[in-house]
Amino acid sequence: MKESKENIFTIFDDILQREDKESLLQQKSKVIWMTGLSGSGKTTIAKGVERYLHNNGILNQLLDGDNIRVGISNNLTFSCEDRAENIRRIAEVSRLFLNCGIVTLNCFVSPTIEIRNIAKEIVGVENFIEVYINASLETCEERDVKGLYKKARKGEIKDFTGISSPFEAPENPEIEINTSKLSIDESVQKVLDYILPIIKNK
Ligand code: ADX
Repeated sequence: MKESKENIFTIFDDILQREDKESLLQQKSKVIWMTGLSGSGKTTIAKGVERYLHNNGILNQLLDGDNIRVGISNNLTFSCEDRAENIRRIAEVSRLFLNCGIVTLNCFVSPTIEIRNIAKEIVGVENFIEVYINASLETCEERDVKGLYKKARKGEIKDFTGISSPFEAPENPEIEINTSKLSIDESVQKVLDYILPIIKNK
């Protein structure tokens, strides 16, 4: 029987819900929030997790300075206020992904407990998996992948986390990874071991 136009374009009361999207994707959405000093390995580990999830049919989105600080947060500095605003925006973006059934892998210094609490509140604590990428300042400074620590020591970059701006370690992260001790593969595996039972729904 041919449907009438009215039936095809039925007006619904509500937009589709997170559960509808999760069921379409056959996965559970969560926000995986990596915090740690610059150069601690957040994005490196997240890239490994991203690739594994993708290859195993779990839709996810990696967010880091490369796609946030150059776009939606490109008017922000590294002052305490601007960092809080940066994190607020990222948390709101993550919430949209969450409601679309997508897992986000967030890689942000997010240096203080207060700032991470803002994110937790926006995203919902039950959706928030905190991962502390723990590498000492000495280790990060020795790596100095982007040459920023050298500049910060010379006073060429102000408010630099760990040097002239604080970093507070999480008190009760769901996952803690010491990248001075674990290899990249081991670190990726540790994140996967924790999150896969939660996000897999197949
Ligand atoms: S956050 O504090 O607002 O969460 P975010 O993770 O977006 O910071 O950006 C941190 C990245 O920006 C660092 O990895 C580093 O490459 C770069 N950066 C530039 N200036 C600073 C600074 N003053 N403090 C920390 N990171 C900086």
